[in-house]
Amino acid sequence: MSFSKNTALAGLVALGALQGVAATPDTRGPPTLVDFDDSGLVGGIFYPPTDTPRSRIGVYVMHAEQDYLDFVACTELPKRGFTTFCANNDASKSGYMNDVDFEDLMTQVGTGLDYMRNNITEIDKVVILGHSGGGAMMAAYQNIAENGQAACNGSEKIYPCSDAVADLPAADGLMLIDCNYGLSTMSLLSLNPAIVDENNSSAINEALNLYNPATGFVDNASSNYTASFKKAFQSGVVARNNKVIAHAEARLKAIEAGQGIYSDDEPLTIIDADYIGFNNKFFAQDTRWIHHTTHAWPLLHKNGTTTQIVPSVRVPTNFESWADTWEGGALKTTVRRYLSTFAIRATEDFNIKVDGFDGIVWNSSQTSPLGNVGGITVPLLTMGMTGHYEYLNAEKLHLAAGSKDASIAFVAGAQHTINTCTACESYPGEFGNTIVTAFNHIGEWLAKEGRFLD
Ligand SMILES: *[C@@H]1O[C@H](CO)[C@@H](O)[C@H](O)[C@H]1NC(C)=O
Ligand SMILES: *[C@@H]1O[C@H](CO)[C@@H](O)[C@H](O)[C@H]1NC(C)=O
Ligand SMILES: *[C@@H]1O[C@H](CO)[C@@H](O)[C@H](O)[C@H]1NC(C)=O
Ligand SMILES: *[C@@H]1O[C@H](CO)[C@@H](O)[C@H](O)[C@H]1NC(C)=O
Ligand SMILES: *[C@@H]1O[C@H](CO)[C@@H](O)[C@H](O)[C@H]1NC(C)=O
Ligand SMILES: *[C@@H]1O[C@H](CO)[C@@H](O)[C@H](O)[C@H]1NC(C)=O
Ligand SMILES: *[C@@H]1O[C@H](CO)[C@@H](O)[C@H](O)[C@H]1NC(C)=O
Ligand SMILES: *[C@@H]1O[C@H](CO)[C@@H](O)[C@H](O)[C@H]1NC(C)=O
Repeated sequence: MSFSKNTALAGLVALGALQGVAATPDTRGPPTLVDFDDSGLVGGIFYPPTDTPRSRIGVYVMHAEQDYLDFVACTELPKRGFTTFCANNDASKSGYMNDVDFEDLMTQVGTGLDYMRNNITEIDKVVILGHSGGGAMMAAYQNIAENGQAACNGSEKIYPCSDAVADLPAADGLMLIDCNYGLSTMSLLSLNPAIVDENNSSAINEALNLYNPATGFVDNASSNYTASFKKAFQSGVVARNNKVIAHAEARLKAIEAGQGIYSDDEPLTIIDADYIGFNNKFFAQDTRWIHHTTHAWPLLHKNGTTTQIVPSVRVPTNFESWADTWEGGALKTTVRRYLSTFAIRATEDFNIKVDGFDGIVWNSSQTSPLGNVGGITVPLLTMGMTGHYEYLNAEKLHLAAGSKDASIAFVAGAQHTINTCTACESYPGEFGNTIVTAFNHIGEWLAKEGRFLD
């Protein structure tokens, strides 16, 4: 079995697929490219065709580690009149290494936000659009920008932040679009409890092996994991998570005592814990879990809006184990970056439910949007795409929101990339063009009188 980048992209954000599905022709002029020299940031400003009150709103788009210069929002927002700044940070875009670092993520977002405030003279407001892992990054950013270092240096954090994040400029509004649970939780939800030896990726405990048909695994269709397997799997995740965190904390102590391999940090490779979509475990295979919202919310269809408990229409994925591969399976980080960026605590109560998760200590991690959204007071829009499991987080973020102007909506039959999920349709055309549905809603939210415009 060999790992291919195509598989990787298909698993999470198939950006390449976006091009062919654009809703209407791209009316943007060429972007104004911005190079930030030393900071490693690159970006492009996409101006709408004409100056209007809407064009005075600048939308900031960036992902935590993927290439978003060509993300669908960079086309769809200018088309609807909004000035749009799409940027990339300097995290590796190949996916080969998981080289993100929490504080670097924060300061690089800040560099771009500063630029929007001070250098783009055609805008008066800055509103962030965070999609997927970009949403999780931006939720942390806005909370820290509004509340300072105290938002991330508490003793409840596994790795409290430093004063490098003390003076970040805040945005005027935040949109979290199919925002995932954050780098740390997505790593927890990818951690394979069947690994018995942290130095041997092919030693598998079959009783905890997600891909073993005896557990209820079904290839190419929804799995039907048994209740006893589910219980054992969840306990196994908690046990291995505790073991990995304890190991990293011990290495940090050693480094700080001058007994590490290096004086500053050490490499840390965790077998089968890579957070990328194709490696998310359990609910990806068994679609009975993370299946519907707890409450009724607006659900946007091609032809109108209903208010209802929102089911996921997703199809099962992730039929292949990447456990014994470095490139596909392993989380490839360092001791400090693991603790600051990828680690989160889970308790004995860890439980994957039909409508959410129990037993994840959201505030133990700096990268968890559910640990950050309560501190954000600016207008907040959360949206979920029902063709993917990450959609359910939109409900939890909305319920935990600190903003007095918090809105929520779901898009029926959109895949994670916001494109129509044709694999989810029960008949062709069922969901219409979900990019149009989603961005019309986003445009209305942005332009609503009294929010960002007088
Ligand atoms: C933003 O404006 C400042 C002040 O004019 C200038 O020094 C800086 O180079 C500009 N930044 C970029 C990225 O162009
Ligand atoms: C956390 O940040 C706040 C605000 O800067 C500061 O007053 C406090 O001392 C910091 N706490 C720790 C434990 O460093
Ligand atoms: C893995 O191998 C390293 C290097 O040989 C060793 O220090 C470590 O104790 C091993 N870890 C486990 C869990 O066996
Ligand atoms: C790793 O585990 C497999 C399966 O149990 C075993 O065959 C192999 O010898 C082990 N490799 C090492 C280096 O211990
Ligand atoms: C599952 O699908 C793959 C790819 O289409 C195919 O190669 C494989 O044989 C299928 N497995 C089963 C059990 O149907
Ligand atoms: C799933 O398994 C349960 C028993 O564990 C069984 O009652 C149910 O019929 C199975 N469902 C499917 C779709 O196979
Ligand atoms: C929207 O279309 C569906 C079928 O595609 C139909 O059942 C429903 O009644 C329509 N809703 C409205 C508001 O027209
Ligand atoms: C962190 O969250 C836990 C619940 O998971 C809660 O008991 C604790 O009070 C929270 N700590 C802080 C400082 O908010």
